[in-house]
Amino acid sequence: MRYVLNFKSNFTKESILAYKEALEKHPKKDNVIFAPPFCFLPLLEGYSLASQDISRYQEGAYTGEVSGNALKSLGVRYAIIGHSERRKYLKEDEVVFAKKIEQAIASGITPIYCIGETKEEHDSGRTLEALEGQLSFLFTFPQEMWKKVIVAYEPIWAIGTGKAITPNELEKIIAFLKEKIEVPLLYGGSINSSNLEQFKTLPHLDGFLIGGMSLKIEEVLSLLQES
Ligand code: 13P
Repeated sequence: MRYVLNFKSNFTKESILAYKEALEKHPKKDNVIFAPPFCFLPLLEGYSLASQDISRYQEGAYTGEVSGNALKSLGVRYAIIGHSERRKYLKEDEVVFAKKIEQAIASGITPIYCIGETKEEHDSGRTLEALEGQLSFLFTFPQEMWKKVIVAYEPIWAIGTGKAITPNELEKIIAFLKEKIEVPLLYGGSINSSNLEQFKTLPHLDGFLIGGMSLKIEEVLSLLQES
């Protein structure tokens, strides 16, 4: 199982140093992957690292963008692409995600591409249709390229709401997604230390993309211990 800890736009230098100090008392694990804000990536050097985004451009005159090569040089192994918060607040779409996925792969970074339906799509029984739509552009890439992607299924209605999907519903969605695209699959959305166990045993689920819980050092330490 992989656990990708998405800190989103949280932490300051002081608070992340305190977090790191607590982490250092425990052995590092390759399958526990930290995704801090860009500026804190070097502070977590030596841990398995993901960036929360990546530039769609290779490098050059793109003010404010962080290139795949820059990330790679910091030891970043994964890049989260297509998170629903970037779709919503930054208005990013599949055209942008395709470029970011290309850049990640060209830099030797594994893209973690996020998909997920809205509450409205979910409640009206259009989940599978929505997911299929979000995946479809990947198949414009040659197979050897889309095979390098990890897909993270994050239902938007479950993100940060405390209401995770049920294992039963997730199992059906995993079966659907694995049929469409044979790549590792993560689940994200209100995972916490109390509900994690019931998802860990689901067949064909390869790991988790975790938001809120990743900010709680005690919970992360027990994750490190158990994983
Ligand atoms: P929560 O775990 O806080 O619901 O966030 C999930 C998420 O968006 C991870 O990328």
